[in-house]
Formats: sequence, C-alpha cells, structure tokens
Amino acid sequence: MEIVLEKVSKLKGKISVPGDKSISHRSLILGSIAQGETRIYNFLDSLDCLKTLECMQALGAEIDLSKDNFIKIKGKGLYGLQEPKDMLDVGNSGTTIRLLTGLLSGQNFYSVLNGDNSIRRRPMKRVVEPLRLMRADIWGRKDGQFAPLSVRGNKLNPLHYTLPVASAQVKTALLLAGLYATGETVIKEPLPTRDHTERMLEIMQADIKISSPEIKIKGGKELKGTEIFIPGDISSAAYFIAAAGILRDSQVIIKQVGVNPTRTGIIKILKKMGTKIDILNYQIKSNEPQADLMIEYSKQKGIEIKKKNVPFLIDELPLIAVVATQAQGKTVVSGARELRVKETDRIKATVNELKKMGADIEEKEDGFIVTGPSRLKGAVCESYNDHRIAMSLAVAALLAEGKTVIKNSECIDISFPGFEKTLQNLINF
Ligand code: S3P
Repeated sequence: MEIVLEKVSKLKGKISVPGDKSISHRSLILGSIAQGETRIYNFLDSLDCLKTLECMQALGAEIDLSKDNFIKIKGKGLYGLQEPKDMLDVGNSGTTIRLLTGLLSGQNFYSVLNGDNSIRRRPMKRVVEPLRLMRADIWGRKDGQFAPLSVRGNKLNPLHYTLPVASAQVKTALLLAGLYATGETVIKEPLPTRDHTERMLEIMQADIKISSPEIKIKGGKELKGTEIFIPGDISSAAYFIAAAGILRDSQVIIKQVGVNPTRTGIIKILKKMGTKIDILNYQIKSNEPQADLMIEYSKQKGIEIKKKNVPFLIDELPLIAVVATQAQGKTVVSGARELRVKETDRIKATVNELKKMGADIEEKEDGFIVTGPSRLKGAVCESYNDHRIAMSLAVAALLAEGKTVIKNSECIDISFPGFEKTLQNLINF
C-alpha cells in the first residue's frame, strides 16, 4: 500500500485518537496474571497490541475483545499461565517481546519468542542480561542478543539493578520478573522513562514503592483485577499536534489524550518551538492523567534537544525533524542513539527521506541537525516499514509542493489504524 498526499493550507476540526499503545500492552499482560476480572476500555486494536493479545491467549489467558475496543479478561492469577504449544509470535512489536521475556522468566515452563525481520535485528541483551542475573534461563542468537529467544522459567532471585539504558521496556520486563522473585527487586533508572507499568501495578495493589529514580517491588503478592480506562495515545496525537502547529490558520482539538508527564515531552518541546497548545478538561482516570488538547498554528523557531529530554519524546523525534524544517534557525537533537535500534534506524530513515523532500538535515551519530526554514517538495518516500517514519512523512507531505508518495504505508496499522481517515477529516473540515 501507499499513501499519496498533497500540500494543504490548514487542518481544522475536533478528533480523537486511538488508545495508548504502551498502556494497551500492559493492561493485557497484567490483567491476565491478576486475580478476578479486568475490564479495559478504549483498547488499541492495532497490530502490535493484537500480537500481545494472541501471545497471552496462547499462554492460557481468557481474553475477550469486543468490537467497540472493550476487553474483558478473566485473570489467571500470578501462577495460572500455561506452557504455550507453539512459538509465540510477536510480529513487529519490541514491547511484546521484551515485556514477555520478563514475564516468562518467572513461569514454571518453557517458551520461545520470535518475530519479524526487524524484531530479529533488535537488541535483546538489555533484557536478557539482568534477567539471567535473576536466575532466568534464556537462550538466543549471539548469546541472547537476538531473537528467537527461548525461555525456561525458574524460581527467580530478586535483583538490585541500575539500568544501563533508559528504557521503559527493560524496566517493565524486570518489574514483571520481580513479581515472581523471592524478595524485593530494586530498579534504578538513569533517566525517568514512561511509568505506565508502575501506575497500573499500583491500582492492581502490587507491593510496589516508587521513589524516583528507584522502584521497589516485592515478589509473590497476587494482583487484583481492575477497570482500566485507556486514554488516547499522545504519540498518535503528536502527528496532528505537529501538523496543526506548522500549517497556517489551523485549529485542531484532540479529545482525551494521555498527558502522563513521562510522555508529554512532545507538548513541551513544540510549545517551546512556538506551537500554541492549550490543555483543557484535565482529569485522572485509572491512575493516568488525560486532557483535551487545543492546538493552533504559530511561527516556529529551532531548539536544542539533549539526552536528558530524549525519553520523554523518544518516539516523536522523527516528527520533530519535520517541524524543524519549518522553524527559523537550527534544531539540534543529540543523545538519541537509541533511535538507531528502533523498528528501523530512525536517524538514517528520517535524514534520507527528508533530504529527498529538500530539507537541510545533517545526520549525526546520536541525532541530527536541521536548519530551517526550508521549502519542502513532494517526493517518493520509503517508510522502511516503520509506522512512525510513515506518519512523520505524511506530516511533511502536507507542507510540500506537489505530490508525495509514501511507500509501504500499511505499517501504520502497527500503532494507528485509521490514521489516514482521521487526517482526511481534518483536511476536509
Ligand atoms: C515503549 C517504550 C519505548 C518506546 C516504545 C514503547 C513501551 O521503547 O520507544 O515505542 O511501551 O515501554 P524503549 O523502552 O526501548 O525506549
């Protein structure tokens, strides 16, 4: 599939975006190992989250998804999962493979995790190494660096560990293993990362203590099933926030977006660059803050983004590059080497494709430098089968003279089914 887009003058209207991807994955995993029923509202039925759903079902969880994105799970309790009969297929989902490696390390059975070509290239040692310190038996290619991963669960020892990379996936894998350890696991983060797991564990009554940068979790305590209202995904909302901010005369309202402070880096940075963003109707539901966002066009200026800011907007950095092409002056992103090991090398992909469209962008080992403003021109672009690259390029296409074609755009369904329709609604308002 491909998306074809042309320049537009503005975006206008009121939309909502699908449920948060990170929270959707976590709600399935924690709901499955809790006791009693978990009811999930506004679940994201995208390819990645459906992979987690299928894996949990293969592990014996009873999960019903109805058409309106409502999920009911009959929890199995901490020790109620079963050995899967076949390999677990995580598709393209890094969150699924890393979180499940942690969960499976504490189970009394054997399992194998595999995924697509992109998954088999992504680094797994970051979860495998600390889990082995807890006594998990894990095998994989290159001594556990790459999938497929085989996991033989064990009785786990607790762990005291400082994460070498700021990664919410690694933190979550260790917290899930920590639920099964005989004692207290203490995890220290080098920089704060998204804390959805900790928030969900709190409402499910885990024995968890959070005193940033440390999280302590005691193993053996059963979780309680609960109701989880999932807010709209700020990483999906980001494309419309960014586009409205750079297209003259735009005004967009996005309803009920998750505004957890570990995810709102995109709002802070775009505000600093110039976008007008108002936060309305703020409320907390299921221990997660959400709000309506009102976005208006304004002149943008270049900005510097350093390592300490990166985890707060890690998935939005390709999009920042697009905004930066319209900003006055230099935008310098550094300390973002992690982008090279996402679904694709997102530094290379962003630089290559925006260059094709006429941007002044320079590749750096750990980021990029964009000098703006520049006039973009339509081009035939590659998505690299990476949903975030495809959607970022769609925003660039709205500014470019002529026609832009984004090839292999079906990958957008990994996180945002209905993206193109939502965009068309704002174009044709
Ligand atoms: C995620 C964490 C981030 C993010 C990914 C989702 C999560 O990855 O890029 O899209 O749900 O925990 P890392 O933990 O590898 O930084």
